[in-house]
Amino acid sequence: MTNQYPTTQLRELDALHHLHPFTDHSSLRAGGARIIVQGEGPYIWDSEGKRVLDGMSGLWTANIGYGRRELAEAAHAQMLELPFYNTFFRTTHPPVVKLSRKLAEIAPDNLNQVFYGSSGSEANDTAIRLIRHYWALKGEPKRRIIISRRNAYHGSTIGAGSMGGMSHVHAHSYPVYDGFRHIIDPYWYGEAEDGESPEAFSIRAARALEEEILAIGPENVAAFAGEPVQGAGGVKIPPETYWPEVQRIIDKYGILLLADEVITGFGRLGTWFGSQHYGIRPDLITFAKAVTSGYIPLSGVIVNDKIADALMAHPEDFHHGYTFSGHPVACAVALKNIEIMEQEGLVPRVKEFAGPALAKMLAKFKDHPLVGEVRSIGLLGAIELVADKRTRRRFADPGRVGLICRDYFFREGFIMRHVFDTMVTAPPLIWRQEQFEEAEAVIGRVLDLTLSDVAGELAA
Ligand SMILES: Cc1ncc(COP(=O)(O)O)c(C=O)c1O
Repeated sequence: MTNQYPTTQLRELDALHHLHPFTDHSSLRAGGARIIVQGEGPYIWDSEGKRVLDGMSGLWTANIGYGRRELAEAAHAQMLELPFYNTFFRTTHPPVVKLSRKLAEIAPDNLNQVFYGSSGSEANDTAIRLIRHYWALKGEPKRRIIISRRNAYHGSTIGAGSMGGMSHVHAHSYPVYDGFRHIIDPYWYGEAEDGESPEAFSIRAARALEEEILAIGPENVAAFAGEPVQGAGGVKIPPETYWPEVQRIIDKYGILLLADEVITGFGRLGTWFGSQHYGIRPDLITFAKAVTSGYIPLSGVIVNDKIADALMAHPEDFHHGYTFSGHPVACAVALKNIEIMEQEGLVPRVKEFAGPALAKMLAKFKDHPLVGEVRSIGLLGAIELVADKRTRRRFADPGRVGLICRDYFFREGFIMRHVFDTMVTAPPLIWRQEQFEEAEAVIGRVLDLTLSDVAGELAA
């Protein structure tokens, strides 16, 4: 649909009729929203004709970039052939069969069965129900508690929001849904004690899982849930020693591992799934976002043979499902998206070129007076803005400086998101050297602009 309204009118109508996600509606109504009208490759355009380099892939989503005709054509062809049919009542259709087969092929060993939804939140709600159902089928119905981590983001539904570890999300729904515990997240820069090495900190953070299991009683614990790299919490990259220790504890107590790969799935770390990068062995993987590069909503849970076998062994219904589970158009688009990633070698390219290019670019800013740390893994990166580089002291009123910086970024034609005062980026897998150079020039300018606003607050 082409845009037929002038910007001011669209803005007014938006403010009158549209409630946005995770938004302060009073300030949105006062200031109005930016209107994005087009995307092509790594760029988006707003309604005033401004071109912006999208350093967030939409929302960790548009991994193959915008404007790929092949995806539109796949949707068009599928809509003409079979626009919708459900997968309840023992029916199926070719796109969902082919996609399930493909996902089983690219997922880690033993993860061979897929249950579909439309959003990451739905996928995680499905995972929660599958985990609890699994233990009931195994004759251990007391195992209901899922241990997750503070600042984890697993979605916004009551289930996924409760499993996530963001207190501001909990504030709207607690105590609606019980049965989750949250331990420390492996965020060395923000959580380590003075002089604590990343390795020592990561072992402490992993052992918090064992302490929690013992405190609750292993017979009550169903699973541990974690994003291989926490994304929305601030691109918190665990030290390499973290996941092996977590896996050891999971194996020791025989609990399930749910890897939430809604961000790390589909190439972001240079492997199809982040679990493959870290060598962990999840029983369930949730995915969404980049499975279709965001061209159409689709999500799911891939489960291993252990869970699938338990379902097959019991002749009773799993009372769960969505009208759009395995939507044929979404599945057709996902298949085309994965085919493009394979044909263009986009996943190995993250390891060979794009990931190292991002790391090199970010490293140029580590000595900037505002910057406490830069970090990246694959195509996930972060810049910590701090008042005191030496002591890692933050600015007063967390998020204020990040917001200033975020707004400068948009003004200067580049999108980075702020998580409090951590600036995060997740470029699409298609960036070439010229996009890294463009981003580097903007980051330099924006850090200087932000510095000039807050210079008086910096440690001497
Ligand atoms: C790791 C993770 N899990 C789940 C979700 C929720 O996905 P959705 O917004 O599609 O419900 C997100 C969204 O950003 C996410 O980053």
